[in-house]
Amino acid sequence: MTDLAIAAYGLRKSYGDKTVLDGVDLAVPAGTIYALLGPNGAGKTTAVKILSTLITAGPGTGDIRVGGHDLATDPQAVRAAIGVTGQFSAVDGLITGEENMLLMADLHHLSRSEGRRTTAELLERFDLAEAAKKPASTYSGGMKRRLDIAMTLVGGPRIIFLDEPTTGLDPRSRHTMWGIIRELVSDGVTVLLTTQYLEEADELADRIGVLNNGTIAAEGSADELKRLVPGGHVRLRFTDPAAYRSAVSALRDVTGDDEALSLQIPSDGSQRALRSVLDRLDSAGIEADELTVHTPDLDDVFFALTSSADIPDQPKEAVR
Ligand SMILES: Nc1ncnc2c1ncn2[C@@H]1O[C@H](COP(=O)(O)OP(=O)(O)OP(=O)(O)O)[C@@H](O)[C@H]1O
Ligand SMILES: [Mg+2]
Repeated sequence: MTDLAIAAYGLRKSYGDKTVLDGVDLAVPAGTIYALLGPNGAGKTTAVKILSTLITAGPGTGDIRVGGHDLATDPQAVRAAIGVTGQFSAVDGLITGEENMLLMADLHHLSRSEGRRTTAELLERFDLAEAAKKPASTYSGGMKRRLDIAMTLVGGPRIIFLDEPTTGLDPRSRHTMWGIIRELVSDGVTVLLTTQYLEEADELADRIGVLNNGTIAAEGSADELKRLVPGGHVRLRFTDPAAYRSAVSALRDVTGDDEALSLQIPSDGSQRALRSVLDRLDSAGIEADELTVHTPDLDDVFFALTSSADIPDQPKEAVR
């Protein structure tokens, strides 16, 4: 049996007659990063809250084991094994960063000296030592988020839930956070994170689950997911409407956007495919103003799997 840090079968949750989670299975091997990806309202936070014992799962949910402990019969043991950084900050702005940390140390029943030592160590590691004695309300968004995670680590959890750890951070802070998360995993910690950023899932996650309409619409490594969607295409842009119209009739298989004067042709982006497009344009005497090659990325997967109704660029028949 593989060592699963998180194993959940048929996760269900409804609010009134609204079904939020409709039988979600999750299996996260120890020491790996799993990213739960989904649009607003998909149920990411709900899943995290259930797995971290903050709310109870709905009727019909199967077994849930976290850190080897049964969530239904031994929630105490689960709580002792995990750390949770919520979507919204747990930092108290009225007290200093250090005091926030010491408060967590108290909650974890660390001795005074142990609490001070852990606090100092973590503040140093998260580059917050200098600001330690300032009220947390004066911290920048990135500093607050780092403090949030530092607070989560006080009890030395082996499994960490991070609900949108980098939402609202600038690119540099986001990279710093990614470094922190990778470091945790290299120490053997298991991370389940939720994100709206495809790039983040691509960068960090060993496995990605795309949550949509209460179920996992697709699951796999970033590469596996990209293979599900034939999103590759060549895009041509024109400034001359006449040239645009000739191109639409000269090329086969095109999807045109009459307003933007741009068209796209499904393509694997290979040299041969490109040459054939260029040859056809040349022989019709058409010159495009811009040619770009688009290889499928997680965006394509995401849009294709999470209701593509209002995204014109995503051909519906391309889904699986
Ligand atoms: N306590 C609650 N009572 C009623 N409905 C709720 C409650 N909590 C969540 N919901 C609903 O459940 C759905 C999923 O919410 P959830 O917070 O899990 O989504 P999410 O994927 O985390 O979204 P976001 O990306 O916006 O954080 C939403 O439609 C939300 O309105
Ligand atoms: Mg959420």
